[in-house]
Amino acid sequence: MSDLLAPTPPMGWSSWNGFGPHVNEELIKGIADAMVSSGMKDVGYTYVNIDDFWHGGRGEDGRLFPDPQRFPSGMKALADYIHARGLKFGIYSDAGPKTCGGRPASEGYEELDAQTFAEWGVDYLKYDYCYAPEDRGSAERLYRKMSEALKATGRPIVFSICEWGQRRPWLWGRQVGGQLWRTTGDIADSWSDWPSRQGYALLGIDRIGFDLQRGLEAYAGPGGWNDPDMLVVGLRGKGFIPGPGCTDTEYRTHFSLWCLLAAPLIASCDLRHMDPATRDILTNREVIALNQDPLGRQGYWVGPAEVWVKPLAGGELGVGLFNRGNERATVTAHWSNLEISGRYHVRDLWQHADLGVFEGKFSAEVAPHDCVILRLTPETAR
Ligand code: GLA
Repeated sequence: MSDLLAPTPPMGWSSWNGFGPHVNEELIKGIADAMVSSGMKDVGYTYVNIDDFWHGGRGEDGRLFPDPQRFPSGMKALADYIHARGLKFGIYSDAGPKTCGGRPASEGYEELDAQTFAEWGVDYLKYDYCYAPEDRGSAERLYRKMSEALKATGRPIVFSICEWGQRRPWLWGRQVGGQLWRTTGDIADSWSDWPSRQGYALLGIDRIGFDLQRGLEAYAGPGGWNDPDMLVVGLRGKGFIPGPGCTDTEYRTHFSLWCLLAAPLIASCDLRHMDPATRDILTNREVIALNQDPLGRQGYWVGPAEVWVKPLAGGELGVGLFNRGNERATVTAHWSNLEISGRYHVRDLWQHADLGVFEGKFSAEVAPHDCVILRLTPETAR
């Protein structure tokens, strides 16, 4: 497993949801510092990723260069700064001639851009799909072309496929060299769907998390992950992406579900100014341990609504009892639905409390939009 680039889901931060086009080297350096000082690095966050709008242009030699006003020290120096803190550096391009933001992209320049990124010290490339051909065959070809160009550089670079699930990338993302592939359109900072600036629907965390990942669990595992888009925890309606923001409860449910789904954990709020609730959510080691479990299974719905399970190494289980509704509800995990039998220790991973030994079922009262996240350990295993 150790030769895989992403044996467990990648963890890090991206500039997009919080800052959109407003990226510069002071911001990125500040985020790297905050990733260390806030304790995010200690719990596993590693990648510091610049999304769209870093570009200055393409020089006469054909090479991409960063915006000289906003990145005056250049990308190599920025990568060095990030690496010196024990973190990794991610950047963004697109399979077409232009990025979604209209900046120069990599079509026809795959080898040169891969070489440039490797020379800068890039460790992660998110590769978008604006202005690229609609059909699946072209997408497979263009993504394979870039992943092969990255491999040819000899530098390990995680390859993040972002074609929004439109061509069912879970069927081919791994074969063309991806370690993760977006399964949906863009997320909103909202429990429910919310209009984008252009008027189409951005997806609420409720729909992306509970509805749009069902059935995709067969395609995820060590080295290749379904990506239901970045986290919005802590944006509170003040980030770049639209949305009214969520309550602490809703952000906790979003984070918990992404952990059970073995989703990449890419935070996007301003790590330099996290409020205590945001920090507590993003750094809950016990919930993160479900996400990073070495077995690498993606959690799935077992019902009754809304019980989700993620099988873990050593016969343990992560279990989520969720309430999508607007009234308090009793949610019950039945051992028969979890496909287990016998006695299990049950630990509540938000209360950080052992609840006792249970057999047959476990029930909890769950507030609207809230969740109870459990770790089940076979009694015989302790
Ligand atoms: C697309 C992607 C987003 C972000 C923007 C940047 O919409 O899905 O995640 O990268 O492009 O322009």
